[in-house]
Amino acid sequence: MQLLVTIIGLLIVAPIFGLIILIGISIFIWISIYSNFAIGEDLKKTQELYVESDKQQSEFLRNASLVKVNAKEKKISEEYDHSYEKINKLNKKVWLTFASFVQKRSFAADITKFIILVVGVYLVYAGVYTPGFLMVLFTWSFRVFDRMGYLTSIHRRVTQQYESIKNYFTLMEIESDIKEKDNPIIVNEIKGRIEFKDIYFKYSSREEFDEDGILKIKKEKNREHVLKGINLIIEAGQRVAIVGHSGAGKSTLINLLVRAYDPQKGKILIDGKDLKNLSLLSYRSKIGIVPQDVSLFDNTLRYNILFGTNENIEDVQLRKSLEMARIDGFLNNLENGVDTFVGEKGIKLSGGERQRVGIARALIKNPSILIFDEATSSLDVENEAMIRESIEKASKGRTTIIIAHRLSTIKDADKIIVFEKGKVVGEGTHSYLLKKCEAYKKMINIQTVIVGGN
Ligand SMILES: Nc1ncnc2c1ncn2[C@@H]1O[C@H](COP(=O)(O)OP(=O)(O)O)[C@@H](O)[C@H]1O
Ligand SMILES: [Mg+2]
Repeated sequence: MQLLVTIIGLLIVAPIFGLIILIGISIFIWISIYSNFAIGEDLKKTQELYVESDKQQSEFLRNASLVKVNAKEKKISEEYDHSYEKINKLNKKVWLTFASFVQKRSFAADITKFIILVVGVYLVYAGVYTPGFLMVLFTWSFRVFDRMGYLTSIHRRVTQQYESIKNYFTLMEIESDIKEKDNPIIVNEIKGRIEFKDIYFKYSSREEFDEDGILKIKKEKNREHVLKGINLIIEAGQRVAIVGHSGAGKSTLINLLVRAYDPQKGKILIDGKDLKNLSLLSYRSKIGIVPQDVSLFDNTLRYNILFGTNENIEDVQLRKSLEMARIDGFLNNLENGVDTFVGEKGIKLSGGERQRVGIARALIKNPSILIFDEATSSLDVENEAMIRESIEKASKGRTTIIIAHRLSTIKDADKIIVFEKGKVVGEGTHSYLLKKCEAYKKMINIQTVIVGGN
């Protein structure tokens, strides 16, 4: 605006000045655009290289112990140096080119100012303008170049960040597949009866990068169904175990149950209500999940456990969850109790301890549905026994789904569901399945279901 008003003002009160400025500015802008054009391609490439090397760096750091154990420090540091060298070389080229354009541009500005000065002084001598008016014209003219310099520096910054800005907006425009109904049912209480009705589901991959490295949204078709016609009823308060080979679709079923995905066909009913009609927030706050790999923040135990809930929790309640998750035992060994920091990714805790923190986090919201997805699979027999005990305690009065391999963990379940290649091939108690279900028998025999810990 300042630029426009000034130039128009000049064109009106002193047309000759306005014209000189207009020509000068045109050359100035032309050089700016041309320079952006000339360095644009390389600038984009440096941006990509930066992203690449940042990714590399964080990956190296995340796997620091792997690097050390395999004595790869030197190789990694060389790799990193190498990728930085590439960036530096390109950067040098870009900014040297840019500097030469900046020089040309300032030269154009200086020439214009000089011409204005000469013409102005001449016009004062000729008696056309008074010296005072000339001073005003000078101030206006020079301000135009001031503003121009500012605009081009913004232009340069935008060019520099253009790729990142583009990626950002592509990311922000991705819409969630999971859409809440307009007037969703807010569930205050869930009994925990779950019914899967003829569920068909397949994943679609959507993160794809085109040849320029730009995030693109693409949906793949013709993938195989991961779940093929699942019909299941889990009664409220039941303790149900799901067994099956890796890749059978057990975790996928859980993903559908927490509505991380919607099935392509079929319905999930919670207490007889279609899951799609429930408010996501109110429903999810009634579900607790303990995964195989419990993610922890580098914060206190308290913070990590309370992360499971949005409510204000009384200390009594926290104690109860700690007790149920069997954390109270190892808590005494920690210097600051629940206010001890767990370290990055919980590095200061053992696998079994991390798992128990995960259980406490799931329990703190007093969920109606509690899910353990291979929560004990990576633990030794001793830890497994302890977790099993806390699962037993925690499952009282809620629907509990346990995905596990160890016979000791599953055999006391009210119902065991046998999964094979996206289908339910058996359902019943341990002794019933041993008699009636070939797949189950086989799993027990070849110890896919590990007969350990009992
Ligand atoms: N996010 C995903 N995107 C695409 N395919 C997936 C995804 N998660 C799992 N799958 C595939 O779905 C199948 C079932 O996986 P999953 O439910 O994790 O099995 P399980 O928990 O029984 O081991 C596997 O073939 C797996 O490769
Ligand atoms: Mg799984």
